[in-house]
Amino acid sequence: VLSKDLCAATHSREFTELVRDFVRDELAPRTGLVPPLGIQRYLNVRIMLPDRPQGVFPFHTGLLYGHGEASRSLWMPLTDVRDASMSSASLQIVGLDESRVLAESAREARLGIDEMAERFGAASWPVSAGPGDVLLFTQENIHGNVVNVTGRTRVSIDFRVAEARFGDRLARKIAGGYFGLLDTAGNSPRAARPTGRQNVLYLNNNTRSTEGVPVHLQRLMVLDYCRAHGIDYHFEYFELERMDHLPTLAHAVANLECDIVLYSIYALPEGPAARTAILDSALERGLCLHFVNEDVVVADRQDREHLEGILAFARWGQSET
Ligand SMILES: [Fe+2]
Repeated sequence: VLSKDLCAATHSREFTELVRDFVRDELAPRTGLVPPLGIQRYLNVRIMLPDRPQGVFPFHTGLLYGHGEASRSLWMPLTDVRDASMSSASLQIVGLDESRVLAESAREARLGIDEMAERFGAASWPVSAGPGDVLLFTQENIHGNVVNVTGRTRVSIDFRVAEARFGDRLARKIAGGYFGLLDTAGNSPRAARPTGRQNVLYLNNNTRSTEGVPVHLQRLMVLDYCRAHGIDYHFEYFELERMDHLPTLAHAVANLECDIVLYSIYALPEGPAARTAILDSALERGLCLHFVNEDVVVADRQDREHLEGILAFARWGQSET
C-alpha cells in the first residue's frame, strides 16, 4: 500500500517538475538522449524488504512486458547498495548481447519461470550504486531481483524515457497514455471541466490502436473516467466498421450539441486531413472532446496543439508499418 501511495505521489505537480528538470538538464545532455523526450507519467517506487522470497520479481526484459525497443529504463537507488555485502539488495542485470541470446533461447526452449530465473540469474551481476547514481539500460537487458539477505531494506525509483525520433517504436506503451511529453506545446495536462452540455460516448475499432481493444473494455475505461470526473452521459455512438474516415464521429462533431467522450486520442483518424476536419469542426462549434486513455481534454487551440504534439511524438499516421 505504501509503495502504491508513493507511486501515485510521483504524479504530483511538484514531483513531475523535478523529474522533468532532471531529465532535461542532467540526463539528456549526459547520455545523448535526443529531445523531444517522453517521460513515464507514473514512476515506480520500490521497497525491497529483506528476507522476502515472495517479493522477488522474476528476471525479465522490458520487451517481454510490452515495452518498445526505443525507450530506456532508469534505475535510481535511494539506499546505498555499493558495498559488496549489499549485493543481494541491488538490481541484478545481464549485459545486452547475452540478454538477447538468453531471451531468445528461453522463448524457443519454452522455459518456465523457474528455469528462466536460474539461467538468467546465473548470467546476472548486482549493480553497484548509491543515492545520486543512475543506471540507464535498454528494454532488452534482462534484469530482476534475488532474495535480499542483507538484513536491510532497499528503496529505489525507476521509470522510462523515450525519444520522439523513435516514437513509433514503443510497442504497447504509446505516447500520451504511458509517456507524458517533456517540453512540448501545452504539455501540462488540462483538467476535465464541466461545460454544462450533454455528453455522448464514442467508441470505435477503426484505427490501428483501437482495433485490438474490444469495445466492452473500452467502455469500462470510459465509464470509469466519467465517474471520476462527474460526467453524465446520454448516448453511446459506435463507429461503422472499416470506415477509416470515421463518418459517425464526423457527424457527431458537426451536428450534435454535445461534448464527446472518446476512448483515446488514437481513436482519431490517422490521416491528417480527416483528423483536421473533425477537430476543426469540434473547436469551431465550441465542443469539448475528452480522451480517456490519455486523460486529455481538447476544448481550445492550445489543447489541440498538445494533442497533435502527442500524435506527432508517436508518429501517428507517419510510420511505414
Ligand atoms: Fe523491469
